[in-house]
Amino acid sequence: MMNWGKAWLNYKKIDGMEETKLLDEIYYYWEDPIIVNAAAELETALTKMQEISVTSRRIEKGEEAKLPSGVILQVEESSSLDKEGYRITREENKIFIEGKEPTGVLYGAFHLIRLIGCGESIERLAIEEAPSNPNRMLNHWDNIDGSIERGYAGKSIFFDKENILLNDRTRDYARLCASVGINGVVINNVNVRGAATRLITKEYLPQLKKMADIFHGYGIKLFLSLNFAAPMEIGGLTLADPLDSQVITWWKGAFKEIYEYIPDFGGFLVKADSEGRPGPFTYHRTHAEGANMLAEIIKPYGGIIVWRCFVYNCKQDWRDRLTDRAKAGYDNFMPLDGKFNDNVILQIKNGPMDFQVREPVSPLLGGLRHTNQILEVQVTQEYTGQQRHVCYLIPMWEEVLKFKTYCGEKADTVADIVSGRTFYQTNCGMAGVANIGNDENWTGHDLAAANWYGFGRISWDTTLTAEEIAKEWILMTFSDDERVIENITGILMNSWPAYEKYTSPLGIGWMVNPGHHYGPNVDGYEYDRWGTYHRADCKGIGVERGQAGTGYTLQYHEPNASMYEKIETCPEELLLFFHYISYTHKLKSGKTLIQHIYDTHFEGVEDVEEMIKKWKALEGSIDSDAFERVTLRLKEQLSNSKDWRDIVNSYFYRKSGIADGKNRTIY
Ligand code: GCU
Repeated sequence: MMNWGKAWLNYKKIDGMEETKLLDEIYYYWEDPIIVNAAAELETALTKMQEISVTSRRIEKGEEAKLPSGVILQVEESSSLDKEGYRITREENKIFIEGKEPTGVLYGAFHLIRLIGCGESIERLAIEEAPSNPNRMLNHWDNIDGSIERGYAGKSIFFDKENILLNDRTRDYARLCASVGINGVVINNVNVRGAATRLITKEYLPQLKKMADIFHGYGIKLFLSLNFAAPMEIGGLTLADPLDSQVITWWKGAFKEIYEYIPDFGGFLVKADSEGRPGPFTYHRTHAEGANMLAEIIKPYGGIIVWRCFVYNCKQDWRDRLTDRAKAGYDNFMPLDGKFNDNVILQIKNGPMDFQVREPVSPLLGGLRHTNQILEVQVTQEYTGQQRHVCYLIPMWEEVLKFKTYCGEKADTVADIVSGRTFYQTNCGMAGVANIGNDENWTGHDLAAANWYGFGRISWDTTLTAEEIAKEWILMTFSDDERVIENITGILMNSWPAYEKYTSPLGIGWMVNPGHHYGPNVDGYEYDRWGTYHRADCKGIGVERGQAGTGYTLQYHEPNASMYEKIETCPEELLLFFHYISYTHKLKSGKTLIQHIYDTHFEGVEDVEEMIKKWKALEGSIDSDAFERVTLRLKEQLSNSKDWRDIVNSYFYRKSGIADGKNRTIY
């Protein structure tokens, strides 16, 4: 039986490995916790994958020349490699993994393990890699009581009843993250309330130091989310004005203390002035003033401030034609471009709204030119089936990364911008809102682990395809059986399109129950008391975001602005995001909009039926526990997808009065 707690690091026996002699000794000559962990990981992996005994030991520099065989870990500070990069080479019976710094060696070790785990030949090795993005972070929305905001895989692995948890899982979590190149972790929810505000104090710092030390051994920096009103809530001050000298002094003291405990502490993630969180607006200060105040104080310690752009007024009146939440991020942050210190990074959600199944790319990406940027994606499946439905999200992120913003002549894709290539920045990258909890398999749905794995892989190498990543993950997790690879790849690759089909059509978004956001509710948008956000009436549906409407399209560079502006050139999958369209409008397929809505909802359910067939065919070929767990979830997905189909279709049937052209029963 497989060890599900180890996820893709469960190290199954790999048949037919002829290299056993070469791979039974690991040598290293640099005493560093990261190198020791790299050697230990290789030892565990190679022992299990080959079913032979493998040992690791320290040698003196130069000794490697005399060794007959083995895997040799080397740190060469003068190497031409990039920071965090590595080189893997083979000379006769020796494999060398070289890094400029220890983390490079660790990533190289995991690369070698992945090659072997995926059944690749290691006969000739000449690999050189460096990450696409400098920051590859996970953001956990874990609360200090142990619950997780938008968590679908049990409780927190970091907190329980206002205590910090440290156990075997802490290390396994760090191993799993490091194996896919994640190098920064924010462990607490961006909505910092109550006791979580005190995480930055002596009450918690000794335990956090222990966690940071474990993470450090895997090249991961610890970050925290911060409460902008902390000077008032725990500091006894009467205000949190970022320009007030008492407030500044208070933060100075707080940061000094943190760095006394954790010298390599990464910094803070801040959600300010949004959804009820405090921020600089209260004092008529800008986001730049708020962020820079913290950035200046943290700078001498080498820390960074990640400031979120998810700022909007959730009390807006949607009956007004010009009101548009989609415009808020750009409106709030574009005027501040160039005003942030160099150790501030703006973190931008992939779309302008909120992690819907389909959104255009946020116009801030490509809009901002003089500000460091991080692309934020949601690994946890808040709006994409809450880990009860399979929804492999890497294809979505792949599309986002490839999106051409036209911010310049070259290097203008989102991948270029967040890697720092476009505007020559070093503080940038990707962040994913984590999807894990203390469930035995980490992610609730076994197939959701592919999103965690995939987030790391694509943020390390933005040129990887979703399909390549899926295959690696299947090989590492399940088996090299061809049918297993083919069927699970098929399920994963079709899961986002299927989910999109049976939920909200053509980019309109939401249509979920307010609060928990699960299950269909067409008028359920929670920040819209009037039930008008999608503008559906008896003639059509969609938000007019062209110049005749909210004017949102103007936030894009040309030719994107014109492409979205015109109905004829607007990508169809986003048609209702950008335009109000009548039910009888003919789409490119020749179908009317209403018929498209009916058809896709039926097709989405059929796609789930197809997934179930593919999954059932694997009985006996994969671990039986995993097989059963996923079977149950697929059953629930099928029943839920039918609810979606029926509720959405009947809503539009009633609204439009137009019957299904195929005469199916619309409930
Ligand atoms: C969504 C989500 C919230 C979260 C927020 C955020 O709106 O529903 O739970 O706090 O995003 O990203 O801050």
